[in-house]
Amino acid sequence: RLVSMTEMLNKAKENGYAVGQFNINNLEWTQAVLTAAQENNSPIILGVSEGAGKYMGGPKVVAAMVNALLETMNITVPVALHLDHGSSVESAKEYIDAGFSSVMFDHSHFPIDENVEMTKEIVEYAHSKGVSVEAEVGTVGGVEDGVTGGVNYADPQECLRMVKEGGVDCLAAALGSVHGNYVGEPVLGFDEMSEISELTGAPLVLHGGSGIPEYQIKEAIKRGHAKINVNTELQQQWTKAVREKLNNDADVYDPRKIIKPGFDAIVAKTKETMDIFGSSNKA
Ligand code: G3H
Ligand code: ZN
Repeated sequence: RLVSMTEMLNKAKENGYAVGQFNINNLEWTQAVLTAAQENNSPIILGVSEGAGKYMGGPKVVAAMVNALLETMNITVPVALHLDHGSSVESAKEYIDAGFSSVMFDHSHFPIDENVEMTKEIVEYAHSKGVSVEAEVGTVGGVEDGVTGGVNYADPQECLRMVKEGGVDCLAAALGSVHGNYVGEPVLGFDEMSEISELTGAPLVLHGGSGIPEYQIKEAIKRGHAKINVNTELQQQWTKAVREKLNNDADVYDPRKIIKPGFDAIVAKTKETMDIFGSSNKA
């Protein structure tokens, strides 16, 4: 059975580790990250962007697929199914109605009054169904906005409003992280992290988790992050493995054989990432 993020994130924050959100793209991808979670005895958040949701046939198909896998794979670790960067009230409600146990409502590119007000509407709807909500304040840079480096730091008072008035369960406070590849080493606002964490008390969410060096990940967790989102890194590992297979085996034509190395690469990378985040053996 799917669970919301609330309990797993509060537990993570209390105990100084972070739960990974791993974005999924298809059946095999979902099987791979669930395999990693179960083998590592780790809680996991399955991230589904609106684009990926649409690609997989819509939120109902995704929820049915994930629920069936939890049963047939005998998954016993806590699993949340989470809409990533939900763009509208309608879309967030559609995903909740389809059976998602968590949603991110991302109105960060709107003025704070509107962001808080719309988020509050989603929170009321979501909480009445036991579903958790994440919101974003400030701007995560990178591909999300079609511009590289378009970072806009979260304002601490706006973060406080989002938690107190908006009532969210966790908060993505943008502090220098970027979706996709980093140009050089990431520069994260660690002082601001501590300030926002202490001010709001909410578990913080780090977007753009791919390509952040381990020591910075550990520092971010120390300073209040309980959830870290990873997408690009898994895609790159999958592509590398599948490309290698195609390059090294000119006779292969069975799609199942072509993408099997991709599956193995995702399992390995996800397990490694869970170890770094500290969520292994925390289920
Ligand atoms: O919401 C998704 C994440 O923030 C993923 O970022 O693709 O840079 O790992 P990433
Ligand atoms: Zn993100």
